[in-house]
Amino acid sequence: MPKPRLWLQLFERQAGQGLGRREQLCASLREAMRAGELSLDERLPASRVLAADLGLSRVTVEAAYGQLEAEGYLKRAVGRGSFVAISLPRHSARKPRSPGSPSPQLHQGPGLSRRGQRIADGGGCVDPRRPLAFAAGSPDLRAFPLELWRQLSNKRLRTDTSLLGYGDPQGHEDLRSAIAEYLNQSRGLRCRAEQVLVLTSSQQALQLLGAMLLDEGDSVWMEEPGYAGAYTAFAACGAQMQPVPVDSEGMQPQPELPRPRLIYLTPSHQYPCGMSLSLPRRLALLQLAQRESAWIVEDDYDSEFHYEGRPAPALQGLDEQGRVLYIGTFSKALFPSLRLAYLVLPEALVAPLVSARTLHDGHSAQLPQAVTADFIRQGHFAAHLRLMRQLYGERRNVLLEALQPLQSWLCPRPSPGGLQLAATLPPGQEAHWSRAAAAQGVLTPGLSALYRGSSAQDGWLLGFAALTPAEIRAAAHSLQRLQGVKPRPA
Ligand SMILES: Cc1ncc(COP(=O)(O)O)c(C=O)c1O
Repeated sequence: MPKPRLWLQLFERQAGQGLGRREQLCASLREAMRAGELSLDERLPASRVLAADLGLSRVTVEAAYGQLEAEGYLKRAVGRGSFVAISLPRHSARKPRSPGSPSPQLHQGPGLSRRGQRIADGGGCVDPRRPLAFAAGSPDLRAFPLELWRQLSNKRLRTDTSLLGYGDPQGHEDLRSAIAEYLNQSRGLRCRAEQVLVLTSSQQALQLLGAMLLDEGDSVWMEEPGYAGAYTAFAACGAQMQPVPVDSEGMQPQPELPRPRLIYLTPSHQYPCGMSLSLPRRLALLQLAQRESAWIVEDDYDSEFHYEGRPAPALQGLDEQGRVLYIGTFSKALFPSLRLAYLVLPEALVAPLVSARTLHDGHSAQLPQAVTADFIRQGHFAAHLRLMRQLYGERRNVLLEALQPLQSWLCPRPSPGGLQLAATLPPGQEAHWSRAAAAQGVLTPGLSALYRGSSAQDGWLLGFAALTPAEIRAAAHSLQRLQGVKPRPA
């Protein structure tokens, strides 16, 4: 009779993993057979003995043996006992992974592809789950009109069963036409609903564009500093990333850089510095793209939120040659878990990109698309944006005021819009003070990580939109205390 061995330990380890006792026992016995710990024809303990050893009822052990017999793992003969019925290819017993431990190396199989390895090495993109002070990039979810959203959803669900089926991979027609209308009126685009491709996120748009437009070794220009999500997506495609410096007029094209296949930029509100691309630069970049036969990817991620006059119309509206691919998202204007964003494409790219999208995830969920279309069409989107603009504008002012006592150390850059504010620190200070702030429970996303070239600027990108004025002041007071400034009462 086998001694209590590895499979009994496996049984102990599986406790607390949400399995019932019978399933737990079945799983440990299967695992022990795969690990070669129980071999063909080996006899298992009598159910009465095993029940006593493991502190189970005999009925549970009998049920587990019965299940494994039905699955073909055991054979049982009355009066003789239960025997292993199968010889499985061996592998080493898997140890449960503790949370946070690194992902296991691939021991078996041919391993990752070169592309797969680049993707894994890039580290992916993780957005903050909770809008704690001062996590960047989150809208205020507490101010979202949930009741109205529920009513619109219920209305669609009462009447429209077609939303339960597979949808158009390009996006729900109602949403595509609502988006095209909104962009033409509010952002100065010139587009038709047929050019809109609805996606789950800007990140998906970047990934899709990289896969469809870039070959390995192609040169991609992007702003320096710039958006890590774009860098990671294009680098994962094997692109040669070329950091292009920005000044007060935005991206400064550099003639000596390798000619670009694609230029990625945030013209309305440069990420992370906040300036707008000047008109001469817009025209120069369009000309350059035409001359070099390059694509321009315009990421218009947060231009709905402007606090000092309207932002310049989108670059796409100036494009006569079909070079500009425009990305917009509802992650900030509505809410991130909606998972809706869009690309506006030159007509020739629509069919190939829609086809590529069917390989990714088929299409975006239909109900949220239809509800978003109704939300826009019925005027709620414009009203929501007006309200949020006012709310976030006030919060930006509260943050600027709260940072004033620190301005010789932490210096805010002009911030005419957006959900976060860039502020610079003296050289070499970011890492130290980020740790000190974290110890006080304040997150301070670093600026220096957004530089890929040699001269990184130290500083922070401070999200304010999701925080109430009291939360902003409390977090700013924590920063003041770090510097020995006595915070003024709120
Ligand atoms: C420049 C930029 N583009 C895109 C996004 C992300 O949008 P999405 O949630 O649609 O991927 C962000 C988010 O912070 C951003 O800062």
